Amino acid sequence: MTPPPRAGPNPDGQILMAKRVKPAKRGRAVSKPPRAAADELQTLLDFVRYAVSRFLAAKLAFAHGTTDPVAEAAFLVCEALHLHPDQFETFAAARVTAAERERILDLVERRVSTRKPAAYLVNKIYMRGLPFYVDERVIVPRSFIGELLDSHFGGRDAALIDDPGAVESVLDLCTGSACLAVLASRRFPNAQIDAVDISKDALDVAARNIAEHGLKDRVALYRGDLFGPIGPKRYDLIISNPPYVDAEGMAALPRECRTEPKLAFDGGPGGLDIVRRILDEAAHHLTPQGGLLCEIGRGRDNLETAYPQLPLLWLDTEDSEAEVFWIGAADIQSHPSRSKCIDSR
Ligand SMILES: C[S@@+](CC[C@H](N)C(=O)[O-])C[C@H]1O[C@@H](n2cnc3c(N)ncnc32)[C@H](O)[C@@H]1O
Repeated sequence: MTPPPRAGPNPDGQILMAKRVKPAKRGRAVSKPPRAAADELQTLLDFVRYAVSRFLAAKLAFAHGTTDPVAEAAFLVCEALHLHPDQFETFAAARVTAAERERILDLVERRVSTRKPAAYLVNKIYMRGLPFYVDERVIVPRSFIGELLDSHFGGRDAALIDDPGAVESVLDLCTGSACLAVLASRRFPNAQIDAVDISKDALDVAARNIAEHGLKDRVALYRGDLFGPIGPKRYDLIISNPPYVDAEGMAALPRECRTEPKLAFDGGPGGLDIVRRILDEAAHHLTPQGGLLCEIGRGRDNLETAYPQLPLLWLDTEDSEAEVFWIGAADIQSHPSRSKCIDSR
């Protein structure tokens, strides 16, 4: 595999030059597709168009923060040029240098040949405009909860918690890269946040993101099984994007997702093993005014069948319908879920 492009100037202080293509040895098959000639692609937009064509021809899957080939191509082009994705439009018609051209083409070809999510190739993803470090030790952040924190907690439609400033404690269960813990720290400026994951690898990445966002004094990381490491502590808000893929979904994961940790997807045979445990135990960890916000993917029917007594409020986002539920502490407490849960596995 080609090593990742260097960020910043190369150590020799020279401009990185386009690599010379070695002539193929006679009698050996050339497996790489021919690259675009130097003058065929010039502007950022040209490279996005080229990348989209390569991605579509290679039938890539787009499920990692960007949902379509154009957004994914624009993200990679911007990363190769050290631009924020929001700057793409400003520079769409600008031409690239020879060194930049090589960096872009390398990334495009590595995306196609490795099938790794774009975020792993550049060790970065943006969520709600904020950058997060990622590598294969964590799932690529893409939870709908990021958008819901903005839309339903203190934004214009603030409905679930009236005053974000009054939230003093948040628990992020299954934190992965800590992306949701970091976003929660911005939405709830007075809250202390605990973030739990069972994976040491994930927590190493989480620690890096917390440090990079200057949040070491506000976000505490715990390693363990769901509520295990936090004892009897209670929180004003619990957020969780747990593993929730069922056995059928696990068998059908696209190649891109197979480069992500299995532990981040596998929700047991019916997909809801971890979600059930969260629902069953949440009442013991919420303050009276608190609530639980939990993403479960397409499992709504199964969850409602298993917990017919719980008044779950289903929330939509720009790209999802009823994949996240909210339930207030009072509703969980008055409908003790464990005793009435109908096991539908
Ligand atoms: C779907 S990922 C979510 C990561 C992150 N919150 C996000 O939204 O990108 C689920 C995470 O749950 C963790 N996990 C799986 N089982 C767990 C358990 N029993 N207790 C705590 N964490 C668990 C995995 O290691 C993984 O990081």
